[in-house]
This record gives sequence, structure tokens and C-alpha cells, in this order.
Amino acid sequence: MTRGAGRVLVFGGSGQIGEAVLARLLRAGWDVDAVSRTAQSASPGLRWLRGGFQEMPPLARGYDAILSCGPLDHFARWQAGGSVASPCVVAFGSTSLAAKHASADPAERDLAARLEAAEDALFASSATRGSRAIVLRPTLVYGAGRDRTLTRMAALARRSGLFVLPRGATGLRQPVHVDDLAATAVAALTANGAGGRGYDLPGGETLAYRDMVARVLAALRPPARLLELPPPLFSMLAATLRATGRLQGFGAQAQARLREDLVFDAAPAATALGHAPRAFHPEAAMFAPR
Ligand SMILES: NC(=O)c1ccc[n+]([C@@H]2O[C@H](COP(=O)([O-])OP(=O)(O)OC[C@H]3O[C@@H](n4cnc5c(N)ncnc54)[C@H](OP(=O)(O)O)[C@@H]3O)[C@@H](O)[C@H]2O)c1
Repeated sequence: MTRGAGRVLVFGGSGQIGEAVLARLLRAGWDVDAVSRTAQSASPGLRWLRGGFQEMPPLARGYDAILSCGPLDHFARWQAGGSVASPCVVAFGSTSLAAKHASADPAERDLAARLEAAEDALFASSATRGSRAIVLRPTLVYGAGRDRTLTRMAALARRSGLFVLPRGATGLRQPVHVDDLAATAVAALTANGAGGRGYDLPGGETLAYRDMVARVLAALRPPARLLELPPPLFSMLAATLRATGRLQGFGAQAQARLREDLVFDAAPAATALGHAPRAFHPEAAMFAPR
């Protein structure tokens, strides 16, 4: 029995973006089959199927739409197999495709290349089958207390009362709230004429990295302090923390990127999908660990 909007197959519904997507799909009257590798609780309109891209559970032969909030490369490979038909395929990718394309770090270049290959494969297999495919590329995601950037910073700042950055962290950022991404993803399912391409999904405000961090710290209860160190001193501190296992993965490339602008144009997604992201007004609850 369907609930009105149609029947949709969702991957990655247990993730930070997926959770917001499921809530919106149910509110919009979609009948949802969601695949997860771990046990999840069902609710009206939502049926969880246990499995993943490697071990797919039995699925219907066709859906009105397929929406992936999981890893794009796995999804594109599964979709190319063509076992489930759908006129509409929407999948999350990442602006890392463009941001890390020319990185000095080979692992980052590899990530960008994998994202690009996955997008190309998804568009090609969907075109062959006459499906309308859309890739949604978020910038820096926040809002659900599950992101690995701002929520992690907030956790560190809560413990010590301060957060340290190198001076000159003025590169521009566009943090985007999970619920704004979810709204755009659900709109994409019925956006006729918008298929066959990717859309960057930035947040509704462009601000310097240090200002983004300062706003998060000011929103915490109690607020935490931002300490800006001369870059060589910050590098020494980061190296010491890495050597003692208290910091992971924040190397020279990541530090250099704090000065780089990572800015994306919201206009195509606004026009085609109604993407209308909010300005960046962080609240403590958005970074509460879950
Ligand atoms: N977070 C960001 O800042 C950000 C920025 C840009 C783009 N994105 C993209 O947006 C999408 C969703 O991001 P997110 O932050 O919501 O991710 P997330 O919280 O890590 O959730 C991803 C979900 O994908 C599923 N998944 C992961 N590996 C899988 C596998 N091998 N097989 C099947 N399912 C798998 C997991 O579901 P189960 O464990 O239930 O199976 C998980 O709930 C991803 O494509 C991500 O690259 C995220």
C-alpha cells in the first residue's frame, strides 16, 4: 500500500543526512524502503531492510524513486548493475570532487577522482535506462551533532574551554545545515527537467573559516575561547599532538587549506531544486554529541 507521494528506496538512511531525509520523506507522504547494514526501528511508512551494497536484501523490482545518502562510489556500482528500475535516481556526492581535485595530497586527489568517476558512471547507467539522475554535492555539513568537523571541534572546545587555530585561517566556507540538504533532496525527487547533472549545495552564508569556528565556540554553553597562534607555532603544536596520538589527520595540506576559499554557486540548485539554505546561526544543541 502506498501513502500518496510514491514508493522510494533509500540508502544511507541511518546517516546524519539520511536521518533528516527520512523524516522529510515521511512527512511528504512517501512510502519508504530503507536499507541498512545494522538493525533499525521501523515506523509508519518506513520499512527497514537489513543489508548493504555488498549484500543487498531482496528489493522490489521497481520504485518511483531511489535516493542514496551513502557512499557514492558503492551506490554507482550497484546502480550500474541495473537490478532495480526507477525513473528517478538522486544521490549525494561531495564538493570534495572540485575542492580536492588539484590537492598536493595524493589521497585527496584519489578521493576527488573516485567521486568524479562515480558521478560519470551514475549518469551513464541512468541515461542508458532512461532514468533521471541527479547528484547533490554538499559543502561542510552540520546541524545534527554527527558531523566530523564542527561537532568534533565543539567537543574538543568543551573539554578545554578553548580551540586553537593558526592565524590567517581566512579561507571562505559555506556550512550547510542537514535539514536544508534533506529538503533539497526530497524536492529533487519530483524536479522534472533537473536530471542528468550534479548540483553544488552550499549553505546560505559565506564566511571566513575563523569566523565560522568563532560562532560555534560562542554558541557553546559555556562559550569557549578561540586562540589564534602564529602558523609556525601552530604547526609545532599540531605535530606534537599528532606524535602523542591526540590529533589525527590534520597535516600540512589541511592547515594550508584554512587559507583557501572553498566557495560554490548555489544558484543552479536554487533554480532547479528550490535549494534555500539558511544563514549560519549555530546553536549549542546542533553540536551536542549523540
Ligand atoms: N558529512 C559531510 O560533511 C559531507 C559533505 C559532503 C558530502 N557528504 C556526502 O553525503 C553522503 C552522506 O553523508 P553523511 O555525513 O550523512 O554520512 P554518514 O553519516 O557517514 O552516513 C552514511 C550512511 O551510508 C551507509 N553506508 C556507509 N558505508 C556503506 C556501505 N559500504 N554499504 C552500504 N551502506 C553504507 C551507512 O548506513 P548503514 O551503516 O546503516 O548501513 C551510513 O548511515 C555521503 O555520500 C557523503 O560523502 C557528506
